[in-house]
Amino acid sequence: MSRLLDGKKGLILGVANHRSLAWAIARKTAEHGAHLGITYQSERFSRRVQRMVAAEQDMEGTLFWPCDATSEEEMDRLFESVAAEMGQLDFVMHCWAYAPAEDLSRDYIETSWHGHRVAQQVSVHSLTEVVRRARPLMKAGGSVTTLTYYGAEKVVSGYNVMGVAKAALEAAVRYLASDVGRDAIRVNAISAGPVNTLSARGVPGFTDMLTYHREQAPLKRNVEAEEIAGAALFLASQLSSGVTGEVLHVDAGHNIMGIG
Ligand SMILES: NC(=O)c1ccc[n+]([C@@H]2O[C@H](COP(=O)([O-])OP(=O)(O)OC[C@H]3O[C@@H](n4cnc5c(N)ncnc54)[C@H](O)[C@@H]3O)[C@@H](O)[C@H]2O)c1
Repeated sequence: MSRLLDGKKGLILGVANHRSLAWAIARKTAEHGAHLGITYQSERFSRRVQRMVAAEQDMEGTLFWPCDATSEEEMDRLFESVAAEMGQLDFVMHCWAYAPAEDLSRDYIETSWHGHRVAQQVSVHSLTEVVRRARPLMKAGGSVTTLTYYGAEKVVSGYNVMGVAKAALEAAVRYLASDVGRDAIRVNAISAGPVNTLSARGVPGFTDMLTYHREQAPLKRNVEAEEIAGAALFLASQLSSGVTGEVLHVDAGHNIMGIG
């Protein structure tokens, strides 16, 4: 198998545990030769994530940093460390998202300003903060990929405040792609079908979502984290050199269906 990211350096934002989509992406990109820096939200996750990495053959030399998306100082510190220890970046995977449980669980009309603000800060604006800081490190161009969901496009019961955040995220992808295209930096999103992760389990009715997607999707199944990682590899690699500002659905085709 030819390796698509030999000699490339990537930053993976947001590994929480072995179910994280960020983790599947980290494994896949490392398998293809990338040298990685990985972040976790706080020191609380550090031992677990470092143990996961230590068990992977392809991940020797991986660097780690804590970074909370609500802290500009931590983001500054992160990118200072990336500059000092990695020198340059070829790709970034933005896998951060959060909304308070109480806002997710009530009708969208009841969303609090606090819930909206936090969801936007962690899940949307952080992408802009990241791209601004990554840009000077992507001296030879680069690729930034974020993760979104169908609830950005259509109403999905239980997704509420996060659906509005993902809609803003998809718009941010387009504006960012326009801003940094002149530096040969591409910005894209993967719209992933539901996968059983820590965050996903926080969405009320998540199990019903899995069933609904499986029944509606042309492929008649749910997607695996490995398939999201495959698309992320494509977007990080030269294979997607002509793709930017795009939302790539990796959802077994669920989004194309009207009445099935
Ligand atoms: N799992 C799914 O079904 C699914 C579907 C579509 C999109 N997504 C998106 O994929 C991305 C990754 O989610 P996941 O499903 O792998 O779950 P996850 O819980 O493993 O990952 C979410 C990550 O966000 C981090 N995070 C939350 N608040 C943060 C903060 N303040 N600062 C820094 N990090 C913070 C968490 O620590 C965690 O690492 C999210 O953007 C999610 O919305 C997930």
